Amino acid sequence: MTDTKKSIHGEWSSRFAFILAATGSAVGLGNIWKFPYITGENGGGAFVLVYLLCVVFIGVPIMIAETMMGRRGRQSPINTMETLAAEAEADTNWHYLGWMGVAAGFLILSYYSVIAGWASAYVFKAFFGSFSGADAAEIKGLFDNFVASPVQLIFWHTLFMLATMLIVARGVKSGLERAVRFLMPGLFVLMILLVGYAMTTGAYDQGLKFLFNPDFSKITGDSVLTAMGHAFFTLSLGMGAIMVYGSYLPKDVSIAKTAFLIAGSDTVVALLAGIAIFPIVFANGLEVGSGPGLIFQTLPIAFGNMTGGWLFGILFFVMLVFAALTSSISLIEPAVAWLVENKGLSREQACVWSGLATWLLGLGTVFSFNIWSDFKVFDRSIFHLVDYLTANLMLPIGGFGIAMFAGWVMKQRHSEQELQMSSAEGYQLWKFLVCYIAPAAVFLVFLNVVGVI
Ligand code: TRP
Repeated sequence: MTDTKKSIHGEWSSRFAFILAATGSAVGLGNIWKFPYITGENGGGAFVLVYLLCVVFIGVPIMIAETMMGRRGRQSPINTMETLAAEAEADTNWHYLGWMGVAAGFLILSYYSVIAGWASAYVFKAFFGSFSGADAAEIKGLFDNFVASPVQLIFWHTLFMLATMLIVARGVKSGLERAVRFLMPGLFVLMILLVGYAMTTGAYDQGLKFLFNPDFSKITGDSVLTAMGHAFFTLSLGMGAIMVYGSYLPKDVSIAKTAFLIAGSDTVVALLAGIAIFPIVFANGLEVGSGPGLIFQTLPIAFGNMTGGWLFGILFFVMLVFAALTSSISLIEPAVAWLVENKGLSREQACVWSGLATWLLGLGTVFSFNIWSDFKVFDRSIFHLVDYLTANLMLPIGGFGIAMFAGWVMKQRHSEQELQMSSAEGYQLWKFLVCYIAPAAVFLVFLNVVGVI
């Protein structure tokens, strides 16, 4: 049935375009901003190891499942789930998985846009030479003053949301595709450059040790959950972003190979960010667990003190903003696609409404860094609460549902036909991972966190 069906929203022009877009979605603030700071907060090596295991054994199989389901369903995740459930003669309540994904997308984007706004502001700070010759204390002061100002944060958050919605409004081909084409290589080169600087700090070994020497005494149930949640977050899994991108994928593309490629590049960027940042942290006597400000308090030190740092600083933050943009568009795309399909809105109208909603939600994050910084729910600021709810709960639950659906609900001949793997063993291995390993892992981690095991 779906063989002849195309998405009403258009299609990627090639396999390469899909790889670019999906990698663009995966690589973002999660790799460069979030990965280093949560690694710092969770004690380093052991956390990194758990994260890597989760990427390989849970992330990659679920990425394959999500892409495959999207391509077969050819619509927004909500409608795709409904179509696929009907095709498998299963309960149509499966579409609630799509709804949870849309909710998670709004919530994530609401804070993502605020942090991307920080990165945008830092482009200008770099340009006006605010980092030049500054020491660690001055750079920290700069950051603290900046986030203390709701007006400035709102300004940059607004700008970033506008940019996101403009790109999304232009549609699959002209908007999404063009935005990702030049970004990845540039970002990669700059990361290598920063690693080069990290080598000169005198604390390179210490940084590497922190990242790669696992100290299991630092691991708790909650940090395992954070590592697993981050594997979903960094690969854009569990909420339908990859599913909706999969729905724009031409039929003749090997899904499994592309998933490996995307997960591989995503992991490399995150590790490079860690290798660049921790030596700077140790060399300057900074706090590894200093939280969401970590890269904004470390990288400017490098730019302020290295040759050519003025230019590299500008370039780096520009690239970071672009990396964030290619991710943020995928966070809102499932909602926009659904509004177009079901509510008869034009893409532009859908963008206005969903953008406005996200912008409003984002104010919660803005204020949790200043005027509401003492306001805590379950001991967490609004920003931390939204992050915990999405990355640690909604994405793993979404991923669990996707794995169960692809493994147990979909008919084997349909998934086989859609995946077209070159080897039967490859298919069997994938099937085993989505049927047993991925769901069991998510389930066990949850049981552990609530204290059952
Ligand atoms: N993966 C992106 C990052 O690491 C963020 C992101 C984009 C995302 N789309 C997503 C996270 C969908 C979860 C779900 O920056």
